Amino acid sequence: MLLPFESIILLLTLGLRVSAHKEPKTEKEIEVQRALQAAAYHCAPAVESFTAQRKHAWAQKVLGGVPGYQQLFDSGTYEDLRKEIESSESDKGQTIMGCTPISETHIQNNTCVLAPEVTEGPYYHTEGHPIRQNIAELQDGLLLMLDIGVIDVETCKPLPNVLVDIWQANATGHYAGHPLPHLHLANEQPQVGGKRSGLLSAFPRTVFEETWLRGAWPTDKNGVAQFTTIFPGYYTGRATHVHTKVFPEWSVLPNGTFKAGRLSHTGQFFFDDDINMVVDKMHPYTENPIRDIRGRTRNWRDSLNIFEDSHGPEGKYNPVFKLHFLGGVISQGLVGYITMGVNASASYDNFWKG
Ligand SMILES: *[C@@H]1O[C@H](CO)[C@@H](O)[C@H](O)[C@H]1NC(C)=O
Ligand SMILES: *[C@@H]1O[C@H](CO)[C@@H](O)[C@H](O)[C@H]1NC(C)=O
Ligand SMILES: *[C@@H]1O[C@H](CO)[C@@H](O)[C@H](O)[C@H]1NC(C)=O
Ligand SMILES: *[C@@H]1O[C@H](CO)[C@@H](O)[C@H](O)[C@H]1NC(C)=O
Repeated sequence: MLLPFESIILLLTLGLRVSAHKEPKTEKEIEVQRALQAAAYHCAPAVESFTAQRKHAWAQKVLGGVPGYQQLFDSGTYEDLRKEIESSESDKGQTIMGCTPISETHIQNNTCVLAPEVTEGPYYHTEGHPIRQNIAELQDGLLLMLDIGVIDVETCKPLPNVLVDIWQANATGHYAGHPLPHLHLANEQPQVGGKRSGLLSAFPRTVFEETWLRGAWPTDKNGVAQFTTIFPGYYTGRATHVHTKVFPEWSVLPNGTFKAGRLSHTGQFFFDDDINMVVDKMHPYTENPIRDIRGRTRNWRDSLNIFEDSHGPEGKYNPVFKLHFLGGVISQGLVGYITMGVNASASYDNFWKG
């Protein structure tokens, strides 16, 4: 069973507005976007609390039963949070956060900011992403669990029941369905200079049935969608990343995929380069075909400024996963936390495509 029926959201005719947003180009549009981001910023402490509670709850669930790891979460580490959770439980789970400051500070602190729209790139499939939490299929790599929170920047509250769609490259830098370059571009060299520096032409979709490392899952009542995957590999010209789209409206198809409705957000998530460099040395990441020719693209060199743009016009959004070890050593896997601020009533039209 993929989805409980009550969480299936039908397309609301109401929501099918035709107001395709434009990229903020004029000074006025840019000003509006900045103002919205600044307005949302005051809720930063609420996000800390949101993330801290997720971390606590999930760590208990995932690792509590693993012998040898219990003590990591038992020695009063999260005592303050536990009290908060208990008191919020007495609110009958209405909301788990309010915009009040808390003292916890080691959690990412500034994500109730509108997450910037960046390109969906050439590897999105508008149909056929399965609704599932484990997207790895038979792809080998470092275990990576993703805990993706979604907040409505208009209310600063978690957004339940929005579909979080993600897709990413495998350990050696390929996307499902796109194994090879166009024949005539097989010997293409990366572009030199400028914003497209390092990019190759996109690999065409030639294998239609592949779905690995693609999947979507609705956020739970706390606004969180969790996934199991592998750490992505790199490819020419791009910093290591995971793509995402957020759909407030969608419908489930008989084969377990979905038909997208309104789109509220298209973005990309990144990893600290320090971690990227460690993963590079692990098998099968060591088998990346461009390892000895071109190597990885660092975050700061990302083509088309995508890494930079993903921080928003004022650099107030953090698109980098907060990572923790799942076990005692990195090879036991990582869990990555991130929170996206989206405008739940917005309706985008992939205007950043390309
Ligand atoms: C959030 O974290 C950044 C560093 O990551 C820090 O510079 C900033 O002051 C913090 N903001 C708040 C509101 O705590
Ligand atoms: C599921 O159905 C959709 C729509 O007919 C189709 O595009 C997609 O390829 C199918 N996916 C699978 C995995 O069968
Ligand atoms: C990644 O996908 C490509 C294309 O399908 C495949 O050739 C390669 O073996 C995969 N990498 C790993 C580590 O499995
Ligand atoms: C959210 O989107 C709606 C509909 O486009 C718009 O009217 C509203 O101003 C937006 N709010 C924010 C905070 O971006």
